[in-house]
Amino acid sequence: AAAGKGEFAHFMLKEIHEAPRAVARTLEGHVDWSRGRVAEGLLLPGGQRRGLRRLWLAGMGTAYHACLLGAWWVEQIAGIPARAVLASDFRDDPPREGEGERGLLVAVSQSGETADTLEAARAAQARGIPVYALCNVPGSTLARLADRVLMTRAGTEVAVAATKSYVAQMVGLLLLALALAEGEEGRVRRSQVLDGLASSVEAVSRSLALEPAMADLSRRLVRERAVYLVGRGPDHAATLEAALKLKEVAYLHAEAMAAAELKHGSLALIEEGTALLALSGRAHLAARLASNLREAASRGADVFVWTHLDGAPFQAARRTYRLPDPGHELLAPLVQAPPLQLLAYYVGLGRGTEIDRPRNLAKSVTVE
Ligand code: G6P
Repeated sequence: AAAGKGEFAHFMLKEIHEAPRAVARTLEGHVDWSRGRVAEGLLLPGGQRRGLRRLWLAGMGTAYHACLLGAWWVEQIAGIPARAVLASDFRDDPPREGEGERGLLVAVSQSGETADTLEAARAAQARGIPVYALCNVPGSTLARLADRVLMTRAGTEVAVAATKSYVAQMVGLLLLALALAEGEEGRVRRSQVLDGLASSVEAVSRSLALEPAMADLSRRLVRERAVYLVGRGPDHAATLEAALKLKEVAYLHAEAMAAAELKHGSLALIEEGTALLALSGRAHLAARLASNLREAASRGADVFVWTHLDGAPFQAARRTYRLPDPGHELLAPLVQAPPLQLLAYYVGLGRGTEIDRPRNLAKSVTVE
């Protein structure tokens, strides 16, 4: 049975605050800290990781956004070509004969019951592509159907909008990327990522300290008709998820776009006072992002930035929200998520929406 809301006004707020615990529990037993590597049990059955040629990562909604980050991590950490794909697209256009050879489908789903994700898994298996599932509900259809399961241990999530389960999915995908990596190449970096993961519970917990600042910013956004969110690469993936939260729980039109794409069209939407939210998680791209933001600000955009970077060059921003050090740059999405979830929560509160049960939505979509 689901626990109550306790001291919290909504399940969503309670569950955002449970993110640190979700991280800790998902890491539990999956890392051999003394030897500085991911536990053996995480590896793939049979041929293990050796010879794996390509990965697809598939999910819907929030899980799809986790897949976008997961594909980036698999390529960065394990050096295996990986592509995030909507589970619906994978099942509509599955790999052709031979294309799936030595491939793996990573199916990500909180509930393990999403129809499109289950169909993607079945389509993969029908083509001889093994399925590695990441899910949060033990005994779910996906968990039973998959060739290998990595349980995210976020605990029961009651609010329709995914929060702590997304953070747990990110941790699970990082563990998988580490498990897939082998050989000397990139070993130093892998141990740095692992060191970062060792402090991620604390980092995620510290990110929640932005709650009063997010409540404050929510008052600035509460009467907006639209907000835009930008980032580069993985930061863009993180803004897609932040935009989804604002749509789901605040009924606010929020559009995420790649920062570099602004000048290729969307800049025409910017007027005096348009709210533009930006994420900056990578030091070597900060200057490029800053130039994208300057262009928008000079057309009237009110720019707000979230970053853990020291001395980032965001003079164009009206406000910069300082995120805690994620321990490693690849882990920046872990500390970006909770504050933006809090922002969506408070904008929803201000707009008087049904936060835990938004109109027209279901926690898990089991029909096509
Ligand atoms: C529904 C929920 C979303 C969720 C998506 C995928 O649309 O409202 O919050 O991200 O399904 O759900 P899953 O259980 O497969 O992660």
